[in-house]
Amino acid sequence: MPKRKSVTRCIGVLTSGGDCPGLNAAIRGVAKAALNEYGIKVVGFHDGFRGLVENRTTLLDDRAVSGILTQGGTFLGTGRDKPQRMPMGGKKMDMTEVAVTNARKHQLDCLVCLGGGGTQRNALHLARVGGLDVLTLPKTIDNDVAGTDVTFGFDTAMCIAAEAIDRLHTTATSHHRIIVCEIMGHNAGWLCLGAGIAGGADVILIPEIPYDLNIVAEHLQERRRTGKRFSIVAVAEGARSKAEVDAEARAQRDDDKDKKKKKPDKNGGSEAVEGHDEDGLPIHLVREPKASRLARQLQQLTGTEARVTSLGHVQRGGIPSAGDRLLSTLLGTRAAELLAAGTYNVMVAVRGASCVPVPLEEVAGSRKTVPLDHHWIQSARLVGTCVGD
Ligand code: F6P
Repeated sequence: MPKRKSVTRCIGVLTSGGDCPGLNAAIRGVAKAALNEYGIKVVGFHDGFRGLVENRTTLLDDRAVSGILTQGGTFLGTGRDKPQRMPMGGKKMDMTEVAVTNARKHQLDCLVCLGGGGTQRNALHLARVGGLDVLTLPKTIDNDVAGTDVTFGFDTAMCIAAEAIDRLHTTATSHHRIIVCEIMGHNAGWLCLGAGIAGGADVILIPEIPYDLNIVAEHLQERRRTGKRFSIVAVAEGARSKAEVDAEARAQRDDDKDKKKKKPDKNGGSEAVEGHDEDGLPIHLVREPKASRLARQLQQLTGTEARVTSLGHVQRGGIPSAGDRLLSTLLGTRAAELLAAGTYNVMVAVRGASCVPVPLEEVAGSRKTVPLDHHWIQSARLVGTCVGD
């Protein structure tokens, strides 16, 4: 029997974007509190927005969400599909109407979307264009969702990356090598910076600070001169050298000139430009993995043997940390409280010690990168870490 009154009777839940530890804990938090405290029916959709479009569901009763607190990944499945541009039969289709019709079929008062930046945008799209009420939770190992102090998944990934750096330390020390460790985080440096500081990396390179290769090499040489014969370089997957940034700016300018000359194509100019990948990045700049090229360059410049480790999806796998289990549960149960009160079209954000609703339109479309005056950067500098500038 529900204990409290609720404006909301039925909700849908989906997980979208890259998976991360803490998703199951968050689903459990929303569903248990919604069901048991407020008597809200909870319908789970498989594989993100695609499951909504294809109407693939599972009833999230108490049994379905029991025993999942500690499990990694998402038992609902996830995907990177957008309702407004979904690959269907070889074409990208706008499936917004189908998604909304399916939500109505299930008599959802609100769709709860657990995801990162892309998910916030997709949820807002369903609200604006489809008139569907939504509520979101901020999930991603990248910690780059705007409007929240932190996202769930970040703590676990940071612990995994820091532990990896610990392990690299002992082998780098034994062989007197430079080890370049590539850390995820998309275009934000939170994960690399946090793990780099926690793991005591000697160099930390993040997208927010374009690095000077010679300064990095000189820092490594200086360490050697002072008797430290190994070095760990933590590099974010989105980090770029000053030279790369300049080259990209030049390529962009050339591109803009070419576009002005060319007439727009029938598809509205969305095709990849020759020599560029589908995100518009010049191919010659992305062919070689970042960490490999950096290791090769540093080996050449310093004369010290270098090795590479790319942590990749290891950072997203496995069980959530205690911190993420707690955060996911707090966010999930707070979401249920807000739903019961009829608060929709918000993201439940972490602000200090509280979980608070913030209007979705204030967060969707923005990315939270590391501010250059952030105290983490300051602290890294103060312990003598080179950040590449
Ligand atoms: O957003 C999480 C993330 O792991 C990023 O750090 C990374 O750039 C991306 O996803 C990798 O995506 P995928 O799993 O689709 O290769």
